[in-house]
Amino acid sequence: MESGGKQITAQLIFCVSVAVIGSVQFGYNTGVINAPQTVIESFLNQTWYRRYEQYISSSTLTTLWSLAVSIFSVGGMIGSFSVGLFVNRFGRRNSMLFVNILAFIASALMGLSKIANSFEMLIIGRFIIGLYSGLSTGFVPMYVGEVSPTALRGALGTLHQLGVVIGILIAQIFGIDSLMGTPDLWPVLLGFPFIPAIIQCVALKFCPESPRFLLINRNEENKAKSVLKKLRGTTDVTSDLQEMKEESRQMMREKKVTILELFRSPLYRQPIIIAIVLQLSQQLSGINAVFYYSTSIFIKAGVQQPVYATIGAGVVNTAFTVVSLFVVERAGRRTLHLLGLGGMAACAVLMTVALKLLETAPWMSYVSIIAIFGFVAFFEIGPGPIPWFIVAELFSQGPRPAAIAVAGLSNWTSNFIVGMGFQYVEQLCGAYVFIIFTVLLVIFLIFTYFKVPETKGRTFDEIAKGFRQGGGSGEAVSEKHEELRSLDANSQV
Ligand SMILES: *[C@@H]1O[C@H](CO)[C@@H](O)[C@H](O)[C@H]1NC(C)=O
Repeated sequence: MESGGKQITAQLIFCVSVAVIGSVQFGYNTGVINAPQTVIESFLNQTWYRRYEQYISSSTLTTLWSLAVSIFSVGGMIGSFSVGLFVNRFGRRNSMLFVNILAFIASALMGLSKIANSFEMLIIGRFIIGLYSGLSTGFVPMYVGEVSPTALRGALGTLHQLGVVIGILIAQIFGIDSLMGTPDLWPVLLGFPFIPAIIQCVALKFCPESPRFLLINRNEENKAKSVLKKLRGTTDVTSDLQEMKEESRQMMREKKVTILELFRSPLYRQPIIIAIVLQLSQQLSGINAVFYYSTSIFIKAGVQQPVYATIGAGVVNTAFTVVSLFVVERAGRRTLHLLGLGGMAACAVLMTVALKLLETAPWMSYVSIIAIFGFVAFFEIGPGPIPWFIVAELFSQGPRPAAIAVAGLSNWTSNFIVGMGFQYVEQLCGAYVFIIFTVLLVIFLIFTYFKVPETKGRTFDEIAKGFRQGGGSGEAVSEKHEELRSLDANSQV
């Protein structure tokens, strides 16, 4: 009876792969504007000339470009906040299907912006694909989690993250100037998401709706059963059904907490502050400065083939995501986050030194490549995966959806700030721009050291108790926690 529930079936693999196309799309659109920055900038310049009969000023160019890059995060912010409107009404599968409309519109706008001589289309397209990404990064992990058997949920869940980094890498490779990063072909590069969107739409026709949605939201037990039978490749799915029913009973027992309550209640205040600061630590670490702007950073660092260095960063990113998949489940979250932040800070210092010494020692451009690779590697060890892990672990069922919404909002907002502000700050500070990230990283390091508890292997009650004792480092776990937990369980009935 057990053996059937843990099996990987072809149907399961198919459903998960089709869903993960959404994650790849998100990654692709994060990385795609990096390599062709110069050719698209000259398109902006020419369009401006055609319209106003003068060349664009460099400050207007910076504004337009930064806007095209970062408006993606504004869309992402709105999208990630709207996930709940769709998944419970249309179901998980249909939500993934419908959201492709946005991918079609955005690809068309961006792909045709050159022919239409319109940078507005490019910017609006970036906004819409951001909207798509925000929604998609909500839909995909949910669907994957709900079609997977419990024993495989963690392992299959990581495929979302892997899909994202592979998407970034594909975009970086397509973006090189011998492929599509050319004045003629960049519209194809930006319009490319059209193709995966078509593939996903067709393939989703063969994917079932999430059994959990059918059972809990729709109360259609027979349909849920037949879907489970197909997914598990077995006729006995009673244990799966029972587990879902138990989960929904638990959900009803614990009242849903709203976002306002999250901030008002002293019970949640400290964990939500931690959740927000950890999201900030992910984005303000400067990682997206690298994913959006690494090619131009490498050009300034005197690297001969900047696009290949960017691809190298994508490869390192993918490799270390795989490494972290194995490490993250076993090692302490707090430790990994501290290690990641510290490593990133050290690499940021190295980057600054390399840029500063470049004039006297040209070989410093190699040091800058190593610094960026290290920066990306340390990111994937700690600040990449950990903030999402910890949000889910700090909150129980009741407050979790609200906490994840707040975390998502903080994440996309700080993503926007970095995307929009980086080029301006870089113009102001020159080689010292990475010092700002170093300072921020050190602040986050200190915060994590003093305020973030270890969450691995601890229950919500234990974690909450640590907060009430005023600590946070998490060492002060009471021996009585077993007793408390049973008390708590009793009071819930
Ligand atoms: C715009 O293009 C013209 C002509 O190629 C060039 O001289 C000028 O520097 C460009 N402007 C910017 C801001 O790049």
